[in-house]
Amino acid sequence: MTETRLPYDDPEYADGHDADFHADPANAVHSRFELGMIEELAGERSGLSWLNVACGTGFHLANAGGHMRRTGVDRAEAMLEVARRRPGRAATFHCRDARDLSALGSFDLVARFWCGCVHQESVDEVPQPLSSMASAVAPGGDFLLGVCGPAGGLGNMPRAVRPPFGRGTMRIDAVVRRHSERGRHECRDCIAPHPKLVLAALAPRLEERRWRDCPRSAARPGWQREALHLRRPTGSATQ
Ligand SMILES: C[S@@+](CC[C@H](N)C(=O)[O-])C[C@H]1O[C@@H](n2cnc3c(N)ncnc32)[C@H](O)[C@@H]1O
Repeated sequence: MTETRLPYDDPEYADGHDADFHADPANAVHSRFELGMIEELAGERSGLSWLNVACGTGFHLANAGGHMRRTGVDRAEAMLEVARRRPGRAATFHCRDARDLSALGSFDLVARFWCGCVHQESVDEVPQPLSSMASAVAPGGDFLLGVCGPAGGLGNMPRAVRPPFGRGTMRIDAVVRRHSERGRHECRDCIAPHPKLVLAALAPRLEERRWRDCPRSAARPGWQREALHLRRPTGSATQ
């Protein structure tokens, strides 16, 4: 097994991504729920522009119903190659890092699903792509962020706790984990940020609307996934 930080540049991995992340019954229930959230927003505002960040193989862009102008961004060309050739609704794709989305303009809906926000070099870098995504939301627009375990579980833990030694406060910023993917890649240093750190990075521009608990999957009852829905105030200046 190859030890790696990320497997996304491997074309073989990219080809098999959807089988694990969306077709597997343990995850399919969550994928359907995410599609439903997008369709709900598309239903409220026909013709909205949607930017899907870290879109990977383009699953959500191709499968969400509704009349929308669809744009996908990912930094892994191998994932985007799968996205470009997949059947389904058409989208425009850009290979770029979520840390700088300024050239793309602003969108009525910005969304990011699955583990996208864990893939930074360090905890200090986690806020940067979040704040760049928040800037891409047009005034009055929506932001949807999928949060998956163990970050979901972290939400039940206070961010600041009293340390068992000395004075002051101990802050829980993130859980760092490793896991194997498709028996081929051992992915290490994956950062799952504390939801309160995520909210703090988004708060200057976006207002929290609601946390959504995805339905539990019968195939993996101990695995909780959530989604965060925020909105940019209508009167806010474009940045
Ligand atoms: C687990 S895949 C999920 C893909 C997609 N969101 C889905 O639900 O199928 C994570 C994706 O995030 C992308 N990614 C991670 N960090 C990124 C960043 N900073 N900028 C752009 N893409 C990023 C990876 O290249 C990969 O395609």
